[in-house]
Amino acid sequence: MKIYVPLDSAAKALGADDVAATIRSQAAIRGLDVNLIRTGSRGMIWREPLVEIETDQGRVGYVAVDIADVPALLDGTLESIGLVDELDWMKGQTRLTFQRCGVIDPLSLPDYEAHGGLVGLRRAIAMTPADIVGEVTTSGLRGRGGAGFPTGIKWNTVLGAKADQKYIVCNADEGDSGTFADRMIMEGDPFTLIEGMIIAGLAVEATKGYVYLRSEYPDAIDIMDKAVVLARHAGLLGADVLGSGRSFDMEIRVGAGAYVCGEETSLLNSLEGKRGVVRAKPPLPALEGFLGKPTVVNNVISLATVPVVMEKGAQHYADFGLGRSKGTIPIQIAGNVKFGGLYETAFGMPLGDLVDKVAGGSLSGRPVKAVQVGGPLGAYMPRSKFETPFGYEEFDGQGGLIGHAGMVVFDDSIDMLGMARFAMEFCAVESCGKCTPCRIGAVRGVETIDRIGKGDTAAIELLEDLCETMKDGSLCALGGFTPFPVLSALHNFPDDFAAKKEAAE
Ligand code: NAI
Ligand code: SF4
Repeated sequence: MKIYVPLDSAAKALGADDVAATIRSQAAIRGLDVNLIRTGSRGMIWREPLVEIETDQGRVGYVAVDIADVPALLDGTLESIGLVDELDWMKGQTRLTFQRCGVIDPLSLPDYEAHGGLVGLRRAIAMTPADIVGEVTTSGLRGRGGAGFPTGIKWNTVLGAKADQKYIVCNADEGDSGTFADRMIMEGDPFTLIEGMIIAGLAVEATKGYVYLRSEYPDAIDIMDKAVVLARHAGLLGADVLGSGRSFDMEIRVGAGAYVCGEETSLLNSLEGKRGVVRAKPPLPALEGFLGKPTVVNNVISLATVPVVMEKGAQHYADFGLGRSKGTIPIQIAGNVKFGGLYETAFGMPLGDLVDKVAGGSLSGRPVKAVQVGGPLGAYMPRSKFETPFGYEEFDGQGGLIGHAGMVVFDDSIDMLGMARFAMEFCAVESCGKCTPCRIGAVRGVETIDRIGKGDTAAIELLEDLCETMKDGSLCALGGFTPFPVLSALHNFPDDFAAKKEAAE
């Protein structure tokens, strides 16, 4: 009997480890031959711990399993939700990057290979660096960390740079509110990230890679560390990658937990052992990055998508999506929703469908008032913008950004002035302090919003002015993008600001 229990930290937080231990002990008592396999999560976080049992028809799922459910699970009397692959949530998705997550044992290379792993790397080994870069460029893959810069063009800059040493740095400092895609793939399918980094190394002629992983992700750190050791023993990493005569090795480095260290130049400083302050660009990290050498800095999801691009071909990937937003995007749904989790779909789904259909609307049952897309620096989208298709240019056209594709949903009890204040406060707390518009502007922003909150609506103009200064004068996205949540709250929900004046009078 094969039983699958997730080891993903969201499932663990809901008791998955206890469930796994109880299955083992109860099976022993009953003399049952149980092969218990720990997997990543399927992304249905509201159903965790989601336990699956293999049958001739496929894997049957049992939701929110508790230790008290284990006897019935083993007796076959626990109510199931049927075949997991046949659930609407699964069937509605296009799983490319997350094709194996929740399916395989994350630390089994044979399982990884049995599910399409290493096909892309073997193909890349037979190609020239320029051809690999060309393939990634044709796929249309763009940076999934948030900025959406074309991955192939970034790689081409690094490939063209002359240097005795180049690096691949994976940005795993996933700090945006409501995001967990990086964590999920590292915990559920770490070899796909390792494979993506090796392919990147072959493409730009870099021989060393680092994953900069946030300390708040202890399970991901543990799994990535173990996966790197296994990959080295299997000859995937080292002086002779899969007998190709080419060399690539990598290490996991743990950050100390500052939001700004997710900004690539600050991350590089931190990786070099320096204080995590932002560096001015240019020079681009692609030309002068880690230790001053040409460096590819890519987000986890960008790199973890490279294997499927190489496995299935650039055109297969590019055929999904909308306009210049090609392929799929793992959308992370959080906040006040019925069905929170990770949903990978081709670009183009309207925001409203994601909120009302996929996420099932608000958990509270109250009307949805706003969705913040793209983390703490993303705009608050009102219902009037719910027709916006999920795509880089489409969101930009509506004054928003998709960022790392996290969505946090709020019902009509939310006070948008309070959310605008929170954005400024967040910026003030997390600012690296290097430039004035962010370091001082964010503090003044909090004070100005407090004035508006006390009924001084004349301060609204001042707030708009301040936001313009922060947008134009900040060195990086933290100060430069904080105006997105602030101004979107002000412009899309003006009543929440004007009402304060009435209340004060
Ligand atoms: P950016 O627009 O300055 O750069 C985008 C990327 O393209 C960088 O890696 C840059 O070095 C590279 N690049 C630009 N021109 C290039 C060229 N000619 N050749 C090679 N590489 C080139 O954006 P930035 O400041 O790096 O990122 C801002 C984004 O980060 C925002 O959109 C925000 O959504 C996102 N973000 C993500 C977070 C997360 O937790 N994932 C947290 C905070 C912000
Ligand atoms: Fe630092 Fe803020 Fe300036 Fe970015 S915008 S460099 S976080 S002070």
